[in-house]
Amino acid sequence: MRIVLGVGGGIAAYKVASLLRLFTEAGHDVTVIPTEAATRFVGVATWEALSGHPVSNSVFDEVHTVNHVRLGHEAELIVVAPATADLLARAATGQANDLLTNTLLMAGGPVLMAPAMHTEMWRHPATQANVETLRSRGITVLEPATGRLTGADSGPGRLPEPEAIFAAALALAGAPAVPNTVPTTASAAGPLAGLTVTVSAGGTREPLDPVRFLGNRSSGKQGVALAVAAREAGARVRLLAAHMDVPAPAGVEVVQVETALELRKAALHAAADSDVVIMAAAVADFRPADVSGTKIKKRDDVADPVISLVRNPDILRELVEVRDAASRNQLIVGFAAETGDADGDVLEYAQAKLRRKACDLLVVNQVGQNQVFGQDSNAVVILSRSGSEPQEASGSKSDVAAAVIDRISAELSRVVPPA
Ligand code: CTP
Repeated sequence: MRIVLGVGGGIAAYKVASLLRLFTEAGHDVTVIPTEAATRFVGVATWEALSGHPVSNSVFDEVHTVNHVRLGHEAELIVVAPATADLLARAATGQANDLLTNTLLMAGGPVLMAPAMHTEMWRHPATQANVETLRSRGITVLEPATGRLTGADSGPGRLPEPEAIFAAALALAGAPAVPNTVPTTASAAGPLAGLTVTVSAGGTREPLDPVRFLGNRSSGKQGVALAVAAREAGARVRLLAAHMDVPAPAGVEVVQVETALELRKAALHAAADSDVVIMAAAVADFRPADVSGTKIKKRDDVADPVISLVRNPDILRELVEVRDAASRNQLIVGFAAETGDADGDVLEYAQAKLRRKACDLLVVNQVGQNQVFGQDSNAVVILSRSGSEPQEASGSKSDVAAAVIDRISAELSRVVPPA
């Protein structure tokens, strides 16, 4: 993969030399773009020797190759580490005053920024607003690690370890998962210790042409909260991430997917070694029957296009069928987004869905224009196929996630009583 590694002017630049080694040793082609300030901490010669490419921070070098446009355009992944307060501010305001910021404006692929600075600078409202802006544009900004900083001080602001940045970057680019390098904070003592939990999150996108898609309003917040709650309960967690407005949490393995068909493939694969599968993703029920290889143009001499749709497979239902066919001991959890209508209320529809999908638990919420999607709070009812009483849970999406994980732990201990 072609990677651009942007290096900001902070003392943590020295750690980025190890990050560069991780990328090159994994076979990636890395062009390093340090800022002017970064070269005061680690010199150009080091970056050239380690990357095997010429290194510059000026838009006036190699002008004949239109470097300031080409590098961002060609990069399949851009990683910025350390992302200093100044660099975050320049990126958030779209400045183009050196080669790295030009390259960021030209980015065609995913961008990951790993901040490092003093705690006060990180917590400053200006920096936080810049981080929010960048995230709202789809850039992944990692949380800084907490610990000893440059001086005697300590707090959040440390550059995450090179291995953690490496794993997050490859996951973002959809490169093969690298479980052994994914940091995990799984507790050996939690109720899900020793178990593997797969969670799908976010909304699938079904392409119409290279620039357009049919999508939905899922933010991924509830799925991410579930992944965090499962990790905190001691599980090894795999997150199947469709389009999400929030970054994936640390300490979980991330598999990036786009369409329902990609999610189906990833889910069936992941389910093979999972003890629990939670389908929190909003999966498109239909996809365009034809995907145009080129941008669909409006034309005066032909009729406006009509979109025909075909049905996507029901992944949850398939997961249950595969599990039952293999007589596996696996707990499968579905989510139901219902609105209710003149023919039935939310719970009636949900009970019917539980019977239809035959999953073990169904977490039901009512959706409307401003309810649930993108919000930070949620109210759900958990229905169980074992027939136990419906259980209500509400509060922040983390509270709801904790209640769902508690319920999963209870169901598992009911099925397999502890020895
Ligand atoms: N789901 C799935 N595959 C699909 C559609 C949905 O696996 N093609 C899963 C979702 O991840 C969720 C559950 O099924 O866990 C219910 O999703 P929902 O959209 O509410 O149900 P549908 O089956 O699509 O039913 P309907 O839209 O008719 O209400």
